[in-house]
Amino acid sequence: MEFTEHEENVSQFYSRVADNSHDWNEGFLTFGLWKTKSGEPIPRPKCYRAIYDELSEGSGIQPHHDVLDVACGQGAGMLRVKSQYGCNTQGLDISVANVEIATRRLRDTGVTVTRGSGTKMPYGENSFDYVLCVEGGPNMNSREDFLREAFRVLKPGGKLLMADIVVLKAIQDLRYLQQLVLKAAAKAWIIPSINMCYGIDEYKQKVKDVGFKMRRFELIGDRVIPGYCNFNLSLSVMREQAKIRGPFVGYMGGPIIDILLQKAFSHGLIEYILVVAEKEINE
Ligand SMILES: C[S@@+](CC[C@H](N)C(=O)[O-])C[C@H]1O[C@@H](n2cnc3c(N)ncnc32)[C@H](O)[C@@H]1O
Repeated sequence: MEFTEHEENVSQFYSRVADNSHDWNEGFLTFGLWKTKSGEPIPRPKCYRAIYDELSEGSGIQPHHDVLDVACGQGAGMLRVKSQYGCNTQGLDISVANVEIATRRLRDTGVTVTRGSGTKMPYGENSFDYVLCVEGGPNMNSREDFLREAFRVLKPGGKLLMADIVVLKAIQDLRYLQQLVLKAAAKAWIIPSINMCYGIDEYKQKVKDVGFKMRRFELIGDRVIPGYCNFNLSLSVMREQAKIRGPFVGYMGGPIIDILLQKAFSHGLIEYILVVAEKEINE
């Protein structure tokens, strides 16, 4: 299968992030859910699996269901979902390094992991009961193509469960300095500009335009982003990152990105959302 230059860049970016000898955060690559609904702190490493738990809670996954985790990363989320619900689980990810790590992690579990893109999935239509996607949306070129693909591979009655990071307003409608902050963060994270040229209302509309019925749309940035940034900006994490990725990334590059993220959230530029959307059965 051929991949685009953007997809290869994303793959390389995550190869740099992946480090086999440091199984950070129990193999999760998500920001984590740092507070319960009532505001109680969720400690590490529980906060990472808590994102998958909160997203899938009440969604109705049963042991006989076929579940696809797109942007499955290093496989920890699939392991969690499989152990919670006993369902048939498969993963898809663009990163060569993450697919290798996930395959190793999931050996003997019956979960298969494939290298491929969420914008052009190697599956027939009506293949899955659930498509999960935790934080894969921002990197995809484009998120809209992913939504169309998710709709295609879902069975009628199937659900898309998505945790996503979004801009609240289209980037072109922001002030110059705000645009600069978001563009710098997007460049650092290999996020295509096409995913930032619409705000949250248009995002909802795009999910519906693809054919989905929206079942849940929740803004949970206050439970995710400050906890993630505060943790990353602690000296012990910087020290650990410096050991793994070198002093520049550990003490400069990483913290700068986290400060940009913190500012973007506190200035109301970005949000973290949970989406549950259903491919309705046509009578
Ligand atoms: C922030 S990580 C989240 C991984 C995992 N869901 C977790 O929570 O641990 C984002 C993942 O999206 C994957 N990704 C980015 N673009 C993709 C694409 N077009 N198709 C499939 N996976 C993609 C990356 O390789 C990376 O593993």
